[in-house]
Amino acid sequence: MKSRAPIASTALSGCAEKLIRGRHATRAFRPEAVPADTMRAIFSLAGAAPSNSNTQPWQVEVVSGAPRVRLAKALRVAHAEQRTSADLPYSEDMYAQVHRVRRAAFGAELYGALGIGPDDHAARAAYDADSLSFYGAPHVAFLFVNGDGGPRLAADVGGYMQTLLLAMTAYGVDSCPQGLLSFYADTVRGELGVTGGKLLVGISFGYADESAPVNRVTTERAALEVTTAFHA
Ligand SMILES: Cc1cc2nc3c(=O)[nH]c(=O)nc-3n(C[C@H](O)[C@H](O)[C@H](O)COP(=O)(O)O)c2cc1C
Repeated sequence: MKSRAPIASTALSGCAEKLIRGRHATRAFRPEAVPADTMRAIFSLAGAAPSNSNTQPWQVEVVSGAPRVRLAKALRVAHAEQRTSADLPYSEDMYAQVHRVRRAAFGAELYGALGIGPDDHAARAAYDADSLSFYGAPHVAFLFVNGDGGPRLAADVGGYMQTLLLAMTAYGVDSCPQGLLSFYADTVRGELGVTGGKLLVGISFGYADESAPVNRVTTERAALEVTTAFHA
């Protein structure tokens, strides 16, 4: 039997394990706002994200207070009127069978925690509509892709997103990336007076309501061997 070399941990390994594994999507928030200084520290740290040739092709719009209330209302109206406007293409066809299986498993976990049955499409739709109020979070950050908004630039903004989520976790702030919000790009732009850019995602954030069963949903990941090959 081959003996394995010991894992070469560094002073940061434990922090990284805690930080990366300690982040979870939060879907019920308490109303308390994140202090302004904490907010600045988080977004300043997120700006350290890498990007192709350091182009930093992101524009970040952080919404709180009265504008957040107005935006939630506008999103619900747009949803009721079926005024969707996605900047980046979306199709169910983009998912391969393996993705469909993982999505189904996640859906069963989430809706199970909410007490919504697998065939209760009305209740699922109502929950999605409700999520346009940012799951009750006091803040939401919208990430726009600059430039031509193409896949390579969007990938950079995806990297920014994960850096931001981890920066939030590091400062004790909970979050939920919501792709659903990107289906209402024109509404978001209109309410915030943003011109240009392609909306990738909205991130609701604040402090988790720990008593909410939905925040106890756990998600699994594919085994390392399934996603990663080591060529040597
Ligand atoms: C780009 C992106 C879009 C997402 N969109 C939504 C969404 O619209 N609604 C939602 O409740 N969760 C959304 N999520 C959260 C995922 O469901 C969640 O990250 C995934 O199930 C893994 O769970 P975890 O974040 O708790 O580890 C999104 C996550 C990402 C990265």
